[in-house]
Amino acid sequence: MLRLVSHPDEVKIVSKRFGLGAANIDRYLELGGYASARKCLAQGPDWIINEMKASNLRGRGGAGFSAGLKWSFVPRNSTRPKYVLVNGDESEPGTCKDHLIFLHDPHAVIEGTIIAGLAIGAKLGFIYLRGEYRYLLEIMEKAVADAYARGFLGTHIFGSNIEFQVITQTGAGAYEVGEESALMESLEGKRGIPRIKPPFPAVVGLYGGPTVINNAETIATVPHVIEMGAEAYAAVGTPRNGGTRLFSISGHVERPGVYELPMGYNLKKMIYDVAGGIRGGRRLKAVVPGGSSTPVLLPEEIENLGMDFDQVGKAGSMLGSGGVVVIDDRTCIVEFALRTISFYQHESCGWCIPCREGTDWLKKSLTRFHAGYGVARDIDNIQYIAENMMGRTFCPLGDAAAMPTLAFVKKFRNEFEDHLNGKPCPFAKHGAPELTVV
Ligand SMILES: Cc1cc2nc3c(=O)[nH]c(=O)nc-3n(C[C@H](O)[C@H](O)[C@H](O)COP(=O)(O)O)c2cc1C
Repeated sequence: MLRLVSHPDEVKIVSKRFGLGAANIDRYLELGGYASARKCLAQGPDWIINEMKASNLRGRGGAGFSAGLKWSFVPRNSTRPKYVLVNGDESEPGTCKDHLIFLHDPHAVIEGTIIAGLAIGAKLGFIYLRGEYRYLLEIMEKAVADAYARGFLGTHIFGSNIEFQVITQTGAGAYEVGEESALMESLEGKRGIPRIKPPFPAVVGLYGGPTVINNAETIATVPHVIEMGAEAYAAVGTPRNGGTRLFSISGHVERPGVYELPMGYNLKKMIYDVAGGIRGGRRLKAVVPGGSSTPVLLPEEIENLGMDFDQVGKAGSMLGSGGVVVIDDRTCIVEFALRTISFYQHESCGWCIPCREGTDWLKKSLTRFHAGYGVARDIDNIQYIAENMMGRTFCPLGDAAAMPTLAFVKKFRNEFEDHLNGKPCPFAKHGAPELTVV
């Protein structure tokens, strides 16, 4: 089990029950659990959606879309059944926060799912965990069974005339099924490939019914928004970026871990203060701010950078899934780019040609390049391939592979040039491990 880390600047909202035994339903109730769901049951859908909109809670899965707005897009009078999907696929490299929620506070996920269901008029919710989270499935399933036993789930939730059921499901270890439409295909028992959009899931989703899909952290935050009140929750963050975020900080820092910090928290402070600075007193070379698909930033670009969706966007990257990967000055960026693209090449579902072929070409080019067999023209070619993947695929996996590659080449072109014409990797002398890419 991961050690729980902590820092005085943390504002614990989503993580406030971590380590307190809240996976036990009695303990969860003692700690105020299920009061938000009861309140929402009394207040009704319009009130819930307005609260969610006012809270400025934006999706924690990557794109940062307003949760309340998304819920409001679901048609009220659909003849088809509606669904709530909780995305617990958590596969973006550098991101390891949702698993803590399933581990420490599974009822918060269930309660958030109930509230989403009440808001859109759904009777069924699915909690979808990544295939590797089988041990968490047991915890989730126990929590769901306990919630049924207490009457919080079922045909008459909390003694009302409203029905809401929850089913848990795991994937089979594919990054692609974290993408919302591929996740729905997977849930329907098909191969996990993306669907063309529009129509968007809020209108035509699972089994063709209107569907709200949210990241597990987004959903687990919902009961807290209701408990605190939208205004108080919004006030914790920055304008248009309500509340806190679970930031997963990894890489070359002294104290890697998952920290809950207010939206807009300064990235430099996050690295040097919260995570204890660069390991071994070395120098910061670059930082990936929001998971492996987000473009890398240079130290001078993070000087005054507040970690919210808008500020990171303005700085030319993305807040994404909140996975901050810190890179020190001993790291070869060409190798880092190669490792990144190797992941996307492996995980491309193969459905769209620009993604399937593009990631493969990029991996081959970078492998050759890193081994010293590159020529000057290859640098432009890498850029050309990546540019031609952008926006040309059904789902954003192609962009997720191309965007970081473009940023690595643009910001570290000199380092690519240092590998040209048979030169060995200049970082190998630091004892960097031999690169094996399969
Ligand atoms: C290739 C790919 C993988 C994704 N993986 C995840 C994931 O593991 N977890 C997640 O919540 N969202 C993931 N997303 C984003 C989802 O498609 C979707 O935007 C998200 O679940 C919506 O929830 P939110 O609005 O609460 O962020 C992924 C997107 C893409 C393109």
